[in-house]
Amino acid sequence: MITKKDQPYGSPLDAVAISHHILGAILEEGDFAVDATAGNGLDTVFLAKVVGEEGQVWAFDLQEEALHKAEANLVIEAMRSRTTLRCKDHALFAEDLPEDMKGRIGAFLFNLGYLPGGDKEVTTTQVTTLAAFRQALEWIRLGGVVVVVLYPGHPEGAREKEVLLKEVSALPVKSWQCFHACSPLSHRKNPPEVLALRRRK
Ligand SMILES: C[S@@+](CC[C@H](N)C(=O)[O-])C[C@H]1O[C@@H](n2cnc3c(N)ncnc32)[C@H](O)[C@@H]1O
Repeated sequence: MITKKDQPYGSPLDAVAISHHILGAILEEGDFAVDATAGNGLDTVFLAKVVGEEGQVWAFDLQEEALHKAEANLVIEAMRSRTTLRCKDHALFAEDLPEDMKGRIGAFLFNLGYLPGGDKEVTTTQVTTLAAFRQALEWIRLGGVVVVVLYPGHPEGAREKEVLLKEVSALPVKSWQCFHACSPLSHRKNPPEVLALRRRK
């Protein structure tokens, strides 16, 4: 059960909050989870709380600056011991994750875009996002979920949305349950969206 205090993002209809609702409903205590874009670590903290003391979260980011912030937040929240941080392109996550975690991961989260408050030029890109997403589908366990928060309001974010939706539309329905949410009445042009895929076979 996700409560208000677990939600650092304000409105429960915010795209990141919705991604957390999905993750919180599917992840179980003791699960493995991967945060593919650690950033300031707010999502990593959330995942670490949900998987509990027996669970493990691996978090990746290209930027040392981001990982320092993520680590500080994990320490404040007493979640550091159940997390592993890697300064690495998420397209290469398979190099680091233990091989025996393949097919046993409860959730992957891709909160795309750039580091809030950081360099807007360092953003996720369609090529590496698609490569990482494809591998995530191979590593997820039965019943597990791959969740992506998309930001189509900036040019690379729009391209990421396009390639991911194309990729998802070609997946077999018998193996994957798909959910895609956007906010048509937002005051923002091209507001964030949520894409989630649950492995059912
Ligand atoms: C929107 S932020 C993530 C927010 C974060 N989850 C949080 O809770 O604060 C996106 C992050 O993705 C990182 N990033 C960009 N390209 C990446 C890549 N190829 N692999 C891993 N991280 C990447 C950026 O450095 C940035 O910190």
